Amino acid sequence: MKVFKKIVDLQNELFLVRKEGKEIGLVPTMGALHEGHASLIKRSVKENGATVVSVFLNPTQFNDKGDLGRYPRTLEADCKLCEACGAQYVFAPSVEEMYPTPDTRHFEFPPQSTVMEGAKRPGHFNGVCQVVSRLFYIVKPNRAYFGEKDWQQIAVVKRLVNYIGYDRLVHIVECPIVRDEDGLAKSSRNTLLTPEERAIAPNIYKALKASVDYAKDHTVAETHDKVVADINAIDGLDVEYFEIVDGNTLLDVNNWNDSGYVVGCITVYCGHTPIRLIDHVKYKDPETK
Ligand code: PAF
Repeated sequence: MKVFKKIVDLQNELFLVRKEGKEIGLVPTMGALHEGHASLIKRSVKENGATVVSVFLNPTQFNDKGDLGRYPRTLEADCKLCEACGAQYVFAPSVEEMYPTPDTRHFEFPPQSTVMEGAKRPGHFNGVCQVVSRLFYIVKPNRAYFGEKDWQQIAVVKRLVNYIGYDRLVHIVECPIVRDEDGLAKSSRNTLLTPEERAIAPNIYKALKASVDYAKDHTVAETHDKVVADINAIDGLDVEYFEIVDGNTLLDVNNWNDSGYVVGCITVYCGHTPIRLIDHVKYKDPETK
């Protein structure tokens, strides 16, 4: 496996890869890789002749600089995991390499980029679009792999790809969320949890999962309130928002029959730091009908 820090070196290599007729899979990451990332990398390795994993802690998507400062940085371990998963290339540029001049482009794709995470973390999706578009221009992947844990991010990236005219060039591959045995969604931020916080965090998914049954004979509003109450009842957990939305527009639904694709999206503050955890559950999914 080769590790590149410079765009030109990666591009020279990928020129040869394409000349051999190989397709390229890109797995964009911010590092601190875990089993969730491993599942994306393995899938890309299976589906492409070459896989590039980008490891870049993108400052422009952090509206909270404290969050950026706390974010785990583990490049050496990340490279080992990429190699073990069969990736051929890691692209780990510096901030100066990715942004030789400040990125002044502004991306907004309402409603997908302005609701929920977009509303709570102003500028976050603009930064995600800046870096993802840069990565697409640099790597020119045939496929790009994103985890469903960041479910809203996928909706925004799809709008981005359409906007920059890349929808025929790159296929956005959505990969299922990976959970620990107790249900906690795998996340780089989980390593920041204290043992006490880690012990209460699975209650988030427990409440979401239980609400799928509850929803069968309760209204959207009742289901919403039950999830929030169940989670807030746990000492150390504090729901920031829980929204039950249409899976395509990401706008709130008021009745279960309003849409054939209904998803409950949540963010919860866990512990004293506190660590912000996100998760979601599907109430109606056209894929599994
Ligand atoms: O999901 C992430 O880790 C990041 O938002 C991404 C897509 C790598 C862009 O920095």
